[in-house]
Amino acid sequence: MDTITDTAQIAGHTVTPITPFGVRVDAAHPGTPVTDLPVARLRELAREHHLLLLRGFTGFPNAEDLTTYSAQWGEIAMWPYGAVLELVEHDNPDDHIFDHRYVPMHWDSMYREQIAEFQIFHCASAPGAGNGGRTTFTQTEAVLRDADPAHRELWEKVTGSYRRVASDWAGACVSPIVTTHPDGFPIIRYNEPPVGEDFLNRPDLEFTGVPVEQLPEFHRTLNDALYDPRHLYAHTWQTGDVVIADNYTLLHGREAFTSRSPRHLQRVHVLGAPPLENTALTNG
Ligand SMILES: [Fe+2]
Repeated sequence: MDTITDTAQIAGHTVTPITPFGVRVDAAHPGTPVTDLPVARLRELAREHHLLLLRGFTGFPNAEDLTTYSAQWGEIAMWPYGAVLELVEHDNPDDHIFDHRYVPMHWDSMYREQIAEFQIFHCASAPGAGNGGRTTFTQTEAVLRDADPAHRELWEKVTGSYRRVASDWAGACVSPIVTTHPDGFPIIRYNEPPVGEDFLNRPDLEFTGVPVEQLPEFHRTLNDALYDPRHLYAHTWQTGDVVIADNYTLLHGREAFTSRSPRHLQRVHVLGAPPLENTALTNG
């Protein structure tokens, strides 16, 4: 049920729907601290609408402040690098994460013991107009709801096996393409095969369950649905934006951006309560 109306507010700040899914909260006064917004209400909105944009609030001057804020949302998933991933182009990237090229659709924590419920993104510096770098989100519950029955039947037969060898992201997992959200509704878990020879640190991917000759149709129909404008939201970053995304339901990726543009995002993973164990993991 959609609880957002034209006049919805939260702590005096206007709440409006995003097309095709998600909601945004605009600060009534520029520079209002984001901590003015009650996290319990924001969490409800993030769960119901799957994506939340907080715009016009004061951002976080450093990683410590972002970490302190994120801890209000729940238990932070710690990585070898700490709580905050600094998503910025490296001079000599060893992984596509730190490259300026596109990143295909995937879900986060796929190689971790526990799956993060929320990703909290903070835009420390926008890439700038015309430089690309939108983060792409696709609402997989809606993808399944709207799917051609024959396509969905095909997707439900397929299982994906994934393996990465990079240091912080190494791991292996096996998951049906169509699986179940902790709340019981169907969702999609899929790591879209990357296109292009210059994709850094390519994962090993294998898709089974249908004859090999059916795999091109599987990928084509699934990718068409994931990127269908009815299900895809591509976020154009403004400096100071805070975006909270439902990693249980959405898949996400990144559009390419101009190399050496000032794009700098920070990301924190927040676990559910209780944390969701990653039953797809095979490297444990
Ligand atoms: Fe990701």
